[in-house]
Amino acid sequence: MHFSYVTLFPNLISSYFEDSILKRALDKKLLTIDFYNPRDFTANKHHKVDDTQASGGAGMVLFPQPLYDTLEVIKKEHPNTYIIFPVPAGKPFRQIDAKRLAQKEYLVFVCGRYEGIDERVIETYADELFSIGDYVLTGGELPSLVMSDAISRNVDGVLGNSESLSMESFENIVLEAPCFSKPPIYENKSIPSEFLKGNHAKITSLKNKMSEMKTQYFRPDLFSRFKAKH
Ligand code: ADE
Repeated sequence: MHFSYVTLFPNLISSYFEDSILKRALDKKLLTIDFYNPRDFTANKHHKVDDTQASGGAGMVLFPQPLYDTLEVIKKEHPNTYIIFPVPAGKPFRQIDAKRLAQKEYLVFVCGRYEGIDERVIETYADELFSIGDYVLTGGELPSLVMSDAISRNVDGVLGNSESLSMESFENIVLEAPCFSKPPIYENKSIPSEFLKGNHAKITSLKNKMSEMKTQYFRPDLFSRFKAKH
């Protein structure tokens, strides 16, 4: 899996790949990443990438030329690109999208800044638009990272056995059951006694029940979808 990031601030993204699971995935070449800075593709001598809004009003917009040229270069270098724009108006990004996109070979994330990206760029190049929630961030870098992280975990080999995907929150619509470690009693709080008895069928059934209860309590919206399916 390859991720390209079109961003004015590549350092915001690259630092996230310097530790932990995503670093290991890069080291093992399960993931590769690169960066394209639209400022390097400007046709004006001041390397300007933003301009005032045609409609008037506050805020600067990333104008088309640098982004068109950047994306044309990427498309020429890589025939299988799938181009994603993180924008507040996009459809909500979900686990099911993370799984689906993990099957692609080459994803490009185009990170907006300031008031946004000239709509003509989006119309011309977007394969999909995603939002990561109903709030507005200062740019597309964090949403791109959030999506890249969720997608990477679904790429074969990225997670070790101990970090497996099965029984995970959202895999089966419901939230994952609470997890516990050692010791069995800590500061007077004990873990469910069933967990210590070693009967795996009973443990699984208890976990499923806890998982449903947790979903009903914290995410009634998900619980209704789960109930409609089961
Ligand atoms: N860009 C700014 N805010 C965003 C959001 N909530 N989701 C995706 N992209 C964004």
